[in-house]
Amino acid sequence: MDREKLHQRLADLDALALAGGGASAIEKQHARGKLTARERVDALLDPGTFRELDRFVVHDCQDFGMADKRVPGDGVITGYGRIDGRLVYLFAQDFTVFGGSLSAAYARKICKVMDLALRNGAPMLGLNDSGGARIQEGVKSLGGYADIFLRNTLSSGVIPQLSAILGPCAGGAVYSPAITDFIVMVQKTSFMFVTGPDVIKTVTHEDVTQEELGGADTHHAVSGVAHFTVPDELAALTLLREMLGYLPQNNLEEAPRRPTADPTDREIPALDTLVPANPNKPYDVKDLITAVADEGRFLEVQPEYAPNIVVGWVHLGGRSVGVIANQPAHFAGVLDIDASVKAARFVQFCDAFNIPMWVIEDVPGFLPGVNQEHGGIIKHGAKLLFAFCEATVPKVTLITRKAYGGAYCVMNSKHIRADFNFAWPTAEIAVMGAEGAVSIIFRRELEEAEDPVARKDELVEHYRDTFANPYRAAELGYVDEVLLPRNTRARLIEAFDSLENKRDRNPPKKHGNMPI
Ligand code: HXC
Repeated sequence: MDREKLHQRLADLDALALAGGGASAIEKQHARGKLTARERVDALLDPGTFRELDRFVVHDCQDFGMADKRVPGDGVITGYGRIDGRLVYLFAQDFTVFGGSLSAAYARKICKVMDLALRNGAPMLGLNDSGGARIQEGVKSLGGYADIFLRNTLSSGVIPQLSAILGPCAGGAVYSPAITDFIVMVQKTSFMFVTGPDVIKTVTHEDVTQEELGGADTHHAVSGVAHFTVPDELAALTLLREMLGYLPQNNLEEAPRRPTADPTDREIPALDTLVPANPNKPYDVKDLITAVADEGRFLEVQPEYAPNIVVGWVHLGGRSVGVIANQPAHFAGVLDIDASVKAARFVQFCDAFNIPMWVIEDVPGFLPGVNQEHGGIIKHGAKLLFAFCEATVPKVTLITRKAYGGAYCVMNSKHIRADFNFAWPTAEIAVMGAEGAVSIIFRRELEEAEDPVARKDELVEHYRDTFANPYRAAELGYVDEVLLPRNTRARLIEAFDSLENKRDRNPPKKHGNMPI
């Protein structure tokens, strides 16, 4: 046995695999402002922790001259490693090898790590950069995609699945990231679409660029497919690491704690004047979130999409907490179709992964309009209601100002199993705003009044005193405590501490039937 020869053979194979698609393909990749798959893995994981699997796997395609074209690894790098010391599984598609296109062997590699991630209860991260189905392999490639989709679905709600789109992601290939929990896209170098500009031109005669159709900004602000956009790949990888800091390894674990030096009883006097005296004036709910959060850190999800609702994570007293907040600074914080869908999915995610929720309510109601009604605000609004009703994690609501109409019920009211409902003295909890209410219930009286304007002002004032405050709800126990804004952080942390061992469950069932 010639050991030197044996070792040399391994070294040669390793070198071949590490070279990927070769120097010129790598140069092309860099020239586009993109990293190679291996560079991405190195930047993502804790140094020295990556353990690659299936480095020598090759495809078995004999058609179209493919028998002579084999690259160890076959265009995807798979394995496991650590992020902040915690185990993760991952795949990184290598565009320098056959355009990162997916063969049957390549799909088997991905499925192997997905199975390991699920069995071992660790997050699954996908770095996508691929020309899609390997055209030379035909249906074998399509079958490989379907094998992945199945695993994405079975893993949903069991382990966090995060996707970064770092190049093309087209055709049916988009459906794997779409099933995962969160998608990060890089501006200018990534795109996602089911059918590209050329097909669209042929079928619908619409002219559209790749960027307009499926670039990062489009999917962030217009379609809501992407949850984050970042300017470059390193920012995307950093974001994946940051996101994991808020998430548990799997659905049987609690979310990780982050030590904090921020005092849990920190008073915030500035909050006492956050809500303007005029109820029609906006304020930025993110000022409240960052003021209360540990060290002022808030990781916002989908900031550009449906900005009338704000979702994301903070740490409170070291505990990871999901925030769902109406945003008075955009469309007065009204609930519309997009806001309902955005928030419903986030609520569902937090509940699946044992992340407590802090709901901030200042909502004038659901958005009126023919477009909204015809677009299905009934079923879409119902999604948010359903998600809150179904959630069994600790749930705390803070009403800062308006809690009107159906939106009062939907936004994690006491009636749908919120654990604690707090209100600031500025809260207005009523069927509708004072002006609207008076116009309806005193219409006849106002028609007959000598001075209808003065009479209306009087009635509005009376209505406000009676209903547009938190005390009727507090008398009924629908609000547990009316608190001074400055004490919000301390009360929230105490509340979540007290809910630490909360046990609640829904009736046994295969699954509910959310109005999708
Ligand atoms: C095999 C592919 C490939 C593919 C790219 N390549 N896509 N090989 N199957 N799907 C190869 C190219 O032949 C080329 O090989 C190398 O990858 C780089 O590709 P280029 O075209 O030179 O790169 P670029 O100009 O950057 O264009 C990238 C691209 C383009 C936009 C992704 O390659 C493209 O349009 N590819 C086809 C995309 C597509 O239609 N895929 C099928 C989608 S449908 P050489 O040897 O020349 O370097 C689908 C169905 C999934 O995926 C269904 C799941 C249910």
